[in-house]
Amino acid sequence: MISEKQRAAEAAVEYVKDGMIVGLGTGSTTEFAVKKLGERVRDGLAIRGIPTSDVTKKQAEEEGIPLIDFAETMYIDLTIDGADEIDADLNMIKGGGAALLREKIVASASREEIIIVSREKYVNQLGSFPLPVEVIPFGWQVIFNKLETLGGSPDLRLQQGQPLLTDQGNYIIDCRFRQIIDAVQLEQRLNMIPGVVENGLFTSLCSRMIMADGEKIVVKERANG
Ligand code: A5P
Repeated sequence: MISEKQRAAEAAVEYVKDGMIVGLGTGSTTEFAVKKLGERVRDGLAIRGIPTSDVTKKQAEEEGIPLIDFAETMYIDLTIDGADEIDADLNMIKGGGAALLREKIVASASREEIIIVSREKYVNQLGSFPLPVEVIPFGWQVIFNKLETLGGSPDLRLQQGQPLLTDQGNYIIDCRFRQIIDAVQLEQRLNMIPGVVENGLFTSLCSRMIMADGEKIVVKERANG
């Protein structure tokens, strides 16, 4: 039996058409989409991809998906990406895989952003998942302090005992807020802190959610397009 992640990913790949520029997200759910896209490319589908991380770039290359970057286009037709949490307004927390910065740039350049999730990612209120905040290494302690003042419980993300470095050479501070009442306001406030490069709140960027709930596929579109 295929997993919910794979089911959602393969349903999203059906939206990809010949000639499209496709944004390729990051994470274990998107991995299934990239794999399926690879199969379709080998069957003759002509697309060009823009990956959101070095990990996805490597997978896409192995799958034989032709890749381009923003030197060649300002727009992406369709992006397929995952999320750590998503609510009924299709606001999200992303960045569990540390790729939030490139993911947000790619999402902002996309005509359509399809988010693929398994059922447990769909929540009434964002905030159980610690919000990833990408910061430059210099003065990260000051930012850490400011996140506490904002009511969060911050934690510097480590890898093998050292601060994890993102693809852009930054750090991630995972900040638990428990309940995020106003995602739009918090997204903006966090990005006002000097040294914060981006945060994992994605508001108004998802145009369509494809959720696998057991064997069912649920599609939800954003109300205002
Ligand atoms: C990567 O930085 C994230 O935004 C991912 O999209 C998110 O963590 C979902 O990952 P999984 O599909 O592995 O749950």
